Amino acid sequence: MVVTGAAGFIGSHLVQTLIAAGHDVLAVDAVERAAAPEAAAANSAELSHAGVTVTECDLATDDLAPLAEADAILHLAGRPGVRTSWGRGRAAAHRDNVTTTERLLAACAARPARHRPRFVLASSSSVYGSAARPCAEHDRIDPRSPYAMSKARAEQLTQEAARDGVPAVILRYFSVYGPRQRPDMAFHRFVEAALDGSPAPLYGGDQSRSFTFVGDVVDATVRAARAPLPPGTVLNVGHPESVSLRDALQRIGALLGTPPPTEPAAAAPGDVARTWAGPDRAARLLGWTARTGLDAGLARQIAWHRERVRV
Ligand SMILES: NC(=O)c1ccc[n+]([C@@H]2O[C@H](COP(=O)([O-])OP(=O)(O)OC[C@H]3O[C@@H](n4cnc5c(N)ncnc54)[C@H](O)[C@@H]3O)[C@@H](O)[C@H]2O)c1
Repeated sequence: MVVTGAAGFIGSHLVQTLIAAGHDVLAVDAVERAAAPEAAAANSAELSHAGVTVTECDLATDDLAPLAEADAILHLAGRPGVRTSWGRGRAAAHRDNVTTTERLLAACAARPARHRPRFVLASSSSVYGSAARPCAEHDRIDPRSPYAMSKARAEQLTQEAARDGVPAVILRYFSVYGPRQRPDMAFHRFVEAALDGSPAPLYGGDQSRSFTFVGDVVDATVRAARAPLPPGTVLNVGHPESVSLRDALQRIGALLGTPPPTEPAAAAPGDVARTWAGPDRAARLLGWTARTGLDAGLARQIAWHRERVRV
């Protein structure tokens, strides 16, 4: 199997899980393209200590034909983040989310029909816009930021390829957290603020999210790589409870025994009021639901922050 974005937050966990399960994994990444290159370099070093080499490959420019010889491509590489996708970030979101997907799908389509790999796209709950109730995969999408638009376009390309005979499926991840969470993400900033005593910006605060533990996201992704899903299937990968950022902040404070210091900041444009995962299709087609409750998952993330070497 190929994992793209292998040095990323979610990708590095996925690689470790696949290796532990005995899979043959080609882990690829372009570490300098990461939203947080230092974090990606640290993840890559951690994988290397575990005996896994991350192969440098820029999916927007390098030859991808060898990757399409695998039985599955789990495409997690990309430029995540709503806030940073405005202005100059728009081009990076397009390059690393759309161009990479288009080129990988072209490499898959160039294989003989019987040898095309299962392709799994890591898309995002942000394509839904704001949710008034749990979102089902057939709901109309309403992307409200360049990031969400880039993921919606990557989904469209994946659907086209699926119609043309690539066994491709789409996973919509909902706000993932846990050990190695990216440093630009809210829980990471809050925990570090509490440990360092320097305030973290709280962008808005009233937003609610289906926060989903990284181990559960990895489990869904591994299942999607193998399950007999019809090409073009879209699945929510999210916890069915939607929790406000302020509530999550309080829970982090309770677990740490001290409230993280924050300073108010305006919510970013396109940062929607609520995401909310409808879990039924993933339960039916993958036998998967998010099992980890927020307090248990936060405790695991906090333990990681306490142990990690600060640079
Ligand atoms: N973290 C979340 O809450 C979340 C939610 C929804 C969707 N997603 C999606 O899941 C995927 C993984 O997210 P993450 O949080 O682990 O992000 P991450 O930034 O930690 O990992 C992405 C990795 O992709 C690599 N990459 C970027 N451009 C590349 C290119 N051109 N060629 C090769 N590698 C490239 C980066 O170097 C990075 O290591 C992303 O596609 C993201 O959009 C994440």
